[in-house]
Amino acid sequence: MNILVINGPNLNLLGIREPDIYGKKTYADLVKQITAYALAKGVSVEFRQTNHEGVIIDWIQAEYLRFQGLILNPGALTHYSYAIRDCLKSLPIRTVEVHLSDIGAREEFRKISVIQDACIAQIKGKGFAGYEEAIDCLMKGN
Ligand code: DQA
Repeated sequence: MNILVINGPNLNLLGIREPDIYGKKTYADLVKQITAYALAKGVSVEFRQTNHEGVIIDWIQAEYLRFQGLILNPGALTHYSYAIRDCLKSLPIRTVEVHLSDIGAREEFRKISVIQDACIAQIKGKGFAGYEEAIDCLMKGN
């Protein structure tokens, strides 16, 4: 099974940005931990990160046939990108939405995810372990 993992704006700043919320580990640490987890589970993961909304859409459109699942943390785009929502609704790619922090327990604007109902699950507030849970979820097929 091939899984594409896309992280959106500012997730490249993990370890630097608001460590009290996102932790002290870096984006490279995330890639390392989740790649090792996937390997142990017998699946392959490909990681991408961009700060640009359209790039996320281009990647999904170009790559959805190569992958059996998508793990997507769109960063702040989660809360307002109808374009990413439409993209997910347009293509048959099983997607799990992941957030490191608990977006339901922060500012009001973060409580809304416009992509949630285009995804098979939303995992939030579990840090890096949320990406591991997303792999399990895609493997289970639910
Ligand atoms: C985030 C939550 C978003 O609200 C925020 O804009 C991010 C990261 C998370 O992983 O907790 O950039 O998606």
